[in-house]
Amino acid sequence: MKSRLVCVSNRVTLPRKVSAPGGLTVGILGALKRTGGLWFGWGGELTDGDPGPAEILTRDGIAFATVPVQQQLFDLYYNGFANESLWPLFHYMPSRFRFRPQEWAAYEQVNRQFAQALLPLLKEDDCIWVHDYHLIPLARYLREMGVRVPIGFFLHIPFPYIETLRVLPTYAELMRDLVAYDLVGFQTDSDLNCFLSAVVAVFGERVVEDHCITVGNHSARCGVFPIGVDVDAIQKTVAASQRSEPVRRMVESLLGRKLVIGVDRLDYSKGLVERFAAYEQFLETFPHNCGRITYLQIAPLSRKDVTSYAEIRRKLEQAAGRTNGRFAETDWTPIRYLNRNFPHDVLMGFLRAAQVALVTPLRDGMNLVAKEYLAAQDEDDPGVLVLSNLAGAARELTAALQINPYDPQALGHALQTALTMSLGERRERHRQLMQNLREHSINAWASEFVAALRSPISAPEVRAAS
Ligand code: G6P
Repeated sequence: MKSRLVCVSNRVTLPRKVSAPGGLTVGILGALKRTGGLWFGWGGELTDGDPGPAEILTRDGIAFATVPVQQQLFDLYYNGFANESLWPLFHYMPSRFRFRPQEWAAYEQVNRQFAQALLPLLKEDDCIWVHDYHLIPLARYLREMGVRVPIGFFLHIPFPYIETLRVLPTYAELMRDLVAYDLVGFQTDSDLNCFLSAVVAVFGERVVEDHCITVGNHSARCGVFPIGVDVDAIQKTVAASQRSEPVRRMVESLLGRKLVIGVDRLDYSKGLVERFAAYEQFLETFPHNCGRITYLQIAPLSRKDVTSYAEIRRKLEQAAGRTNGRFAETDWTPIRYLNRNFPHDVLMGFLRAAQVALVTPLRDGMNLVAKEYLAAQDEDDPGVLVLSNLAGAARELTAALQINPYDPQALGHALQTALTMSLGERRERHRQLMQNLREHSINAWASEFVAALRSPISAPEVRAAS
């Protein structure tokens, strides 16, 4: 019998909860639905006292084990180190980076507490898969507590080149913690190469051989495992959700106008301010689109207590208000801007209804909305994806209309090209893109990572960086 898969992430999305769309939740649920297992992490509660043992809820073969985080640590650990140090730096935005030693200490402390709470839940032949930047030190603590089962780590966000990483005073400690895993996975070749640049800077060239890093008496392997989506499941969802009340109402409200859609967590890395400015410029440059298209931007609030997120929220409200004030007619609104989320099936129905999707992050590990949009399309009459060349997805989705998200003119022209593209070209691009999607599916991502983690060192399935 195969060993049990234990996924660990900072946040656990409990069944039937409508959470902000994010690659992490989609990815972990996709992996665990296949194999069953345990998902351990923070359940969204804060506590004044000791976090105590995990609470467990089992649904459809998945045990959701959640712990609270201590109130006095949460702000320092999550808002602070995770989202004001690591997030901006790893997204190549050092101007938004700031470092406070007490936040780093809280980050380590929460990781230690997670390890302590996970320990009693572990079985002898488990296989542990840790997700994302909140939990880099976890393997070190588990090892110190005597855990000997394989522990892998997957980074959902980009990994920066060493010269950017070096901005972080504790970068060498982070690197020490990363090489304490048995397997470290990245979204793209470029992330893996950046990671290796940091390994060489911290430990020297001699420690790396054939994607295996040996420091002391421990060897860690590393590889590329691009995350994907479950095309068949999305197509099934879409078929049902097209008939649902919220999707029908939204489509009817368009009165036959073309729909341009964006679905992003409200995050500065998603390029929303730049996108809104480009859309305003687009309406100026191509005025015949006024009254003929509707841009629906769904942007659920995220990390509300982090200053940069509050700032960007204000800027977007101003930008949407300005564009609507300037271009709206009594019977037409250029931008519908919503700070709320919808259940996943409704979102898929919205994506299906859109002739164009704007996925224009300033930097992104992968971006699953781009892939979900493609999977949700009608292959006989597909929409067009306008994609940032700075998203991890751009490496695979070469048949999308790729643009630099900082260039408003390029974005506007791509939008115009998308709106006027012939059916033949749309079908051909979509056909090619669907091939990529099927090749790098969510199943391939999870099964290749877990197989590599379970197999002995120098596993052939760990893909090399090019
Ligand atoms: C998105 C990102 C993940 C990240 C997650 C954290 O899903 O793609 O890389 O781990 O957000 O979200 P949170 O809401 O917990 O800050």
